[in-house]
Amino acid sequence: MSAEELKRAAAERAVEFIEDGMTVGLGTGSTAYYAIKAVGRLVDSGYKLRCVATSLQTEAIARESGIEVSGMDEVERIDLTIDGADEVDPSLNLIKGLGGALLREKIVAAATETQVIVVDPSKMVEMLGTRAPLPVEVLSFGSDHTARALRSLGCEPALRSRDGSPFITDGGNLILDCRFPEGIEHPYHLESRVNNIPGTVENGLFLGMASKVVVARPEGIELIEK
Ligand code: A5P
Repeated sequence: MSAEELKRAAAERAVEFIEDGMTVGLGTGSTAYYAIKAVGRLVDSGYKLRCVATSLQTEAIARESGIEVSGMDEVERIDLTIDGADEVDPSLNLIKGLGGALLREKIVAAATETQVIVVDPSKMVEMLGTRAPLPVEVLSFGSDHTARALRSLGCEPALRSRDGSPFITDGGNLILDCRFPEGIEHPYHLESRVNNIPGTVENGLFLGMASKVVVARPEGIELIEK
């Protein structure tokens, strides 16, 4: 199976958790894309769902797929969110945000009952930070100062760019991709230290948030549950 087929298989398995009448969070990225398309088919078939999007890009894909998108503050709670991840550790802690949507993704995840993560096997790691950098969304004001403070935590922050210009998030902020040479040994401790730095808006550590991870492997689908 190709990487795309694995992503599609994981996403379509996760969509089986959706029940008629649910409020559903729609994730961002190339794996979540297939989930959005499958949710569109559920809506077509008559399911009544309320959906919220984790990025402007996802909102556009959802609308194209015939899904009505509610604003985050129009919903009280989200029953189930399907989203991708950049890394998943054995405790189902995650790094997210290589697609740049970590802030809205985390707000949606925090309001979600059941967070289902869809990945191909390349995202499974023994320790967070060994494969992906940790994305940190920061205000552009004083971002060099914020980067220096992040560097003091033992990482090498790099300003994310796209087409030669700084990448701007849906919230109008910058992203510093923080590479930890030895990985992230104590993610909870690191998260609070990052959050204490003035100028940081959000970070890509999603700790204790995922309840199910669907891994599509060439030999079959693996469902890991907490
Ligand atoms: C978006 O900001 C990210 O958190 C994505 O969910 C994550 O990067 C996974 O994306 P892919 O499924 O495209 O790898």
